[in-house]
Amino acid sequence: MTNQDIAAKGQQYVMNTYGRFPVALVRGKGSHVWDANGRQYLDFVAGIAVCLLGHSNQDLNAVLREQSQKLWHVSNLYWIEPQVELAEKLVFQAGMGKAFFCNSGAEANEAAIKLVRKYFYRRKESHRNKIIVFNGSFHGRTLATVAATGQTKYQEGFAPLPEGFAYAEFNDLSSVEQLVDESTCAVMVEPIQGEGGIRPAELGFLKGLREICDQKGLLLVFDEVQCGMGRTGKFFAFQAYGVKPDVITLAKGLGGGFPVGAMLATDKAAGGFAPGDHASTFGGNPLAAAVANRVVDIITEEGFLDQVSKIGNYLFDSLKKVKDGRIVTVRGWGLMLGVEFKAEIKELVEICIQKGLLLVGAGPRVLRFVPPLTVNKSEIDQAVEIFREALKEWNS
Ligand SMILES: Cc1ncc(COP(=O)(O)O)c(C=O)c1O
Repeated sequence: MTNQDIAAKGQQYVMNTYGRFPVALVRGKGSHVWDANGRQYLDFVAGIAVCLLGHSNQDLNAVLREQSQKLWHVSNLYWIEPQVELAEKLVFQAGMGKAFFCNSGAEANEAAIKLVRKYFYRRKESHRNKIIVFNGSFHGRTLATVAATGQTKYQEGFAPLPEGFAYAEFNDLSSVEQLVDESTCAVMVEPIQGEGGIRPAELGFLKGLREICDQKGLLLVFDEVQCGMGRTGKFFAFQAYGVKPDVITLAKGLGGGFPVGAMLATDKAAGGFAPGDHASTFGGNPLAAAVANRVVDIITEEGFLDQVSKIGNYLFDSLKKVKDGRIVTVRGWGLMLGVEFKAEIKELVEICIQKGLLLVGAGPRVLRFVPPLTVNKSEIDQAVEIFREALKEWNS
């Protein structure tokens, strides 16, 4: 089938929840993907910050094949060896106590929302159930995570939403202080807002949140679904800030493209859950856990994350050199970068696709660069060249 055939059938049978480009990607290798018409693209979307090790990574393919011949799925009523190993590796990397596994970022955040509330419930403080979240944030598409998301466009039409979220301003500690009261149980924040436009938290802001949480006895939750798993050049973004949360959520890059999510918590916070409090049929299943184990092993190999920092700086510097009066700023960390424009960038994304470069927006005016962490200099040079050419054709 061609791109056109697949798109036509898709429009007929697939629910209309995405504004899709008229391209069907059928094959990938490293930083490249090919569409159904045989056209090649440089992939700086990587499944939106998911395919950490590029497409068709041989190590991941091998581990998936091997596990698929042993055991696909068993219930979490039994111990799952690769899941236990993955938990050990993640809690070690994070300096946390325990891990819970699920299948997506929204589910990981749902788990975190439930955990922080149950934690206070168990302490006989069930009145403490309000979670402070931030304008511009994105935490997922389930009802609770959409309520936690500080962007009304994701909430419209879904009322009544779960209660118990209060919205503060990102990078503004006083707005948090004003919202904290005796009903507050936690603060939940992305160290780098992803969908909100690749906006890094200021160091003082995260430090200040930690202090407020310590003073008031609140739990601090970092949503690292997009910025975790090496994307910033550190395993976790919080390590770049030196501010440790009580709960961390992960998904996207964790499985390198295999669906898996996780919530990590300190032993103390993890004590909020007891058997029966939370569950997920597929969470941390043998296939997902086997692949994620390998992802963790690879990104913790000596030098891997340093290379992410270096290549990220190279991309940042290359983007900074692009001179165009419509660019407001370039920002981000490692290989999680955004170029903010004065105008909306939808057409610019389309021109890049036509020229063989996949990019995606982060909000209406920010062009996001989240290639595989294995991207090389020459691929970055090619991408930036296509970006420059696209800017010449873009009439905004
Ligand atoms: C920071 C953050 N949290 C949560 C999510 C939701 O993840 P998922 O789409 O896997 O449910 C996303 C997805 O973009 C995200 O960027």
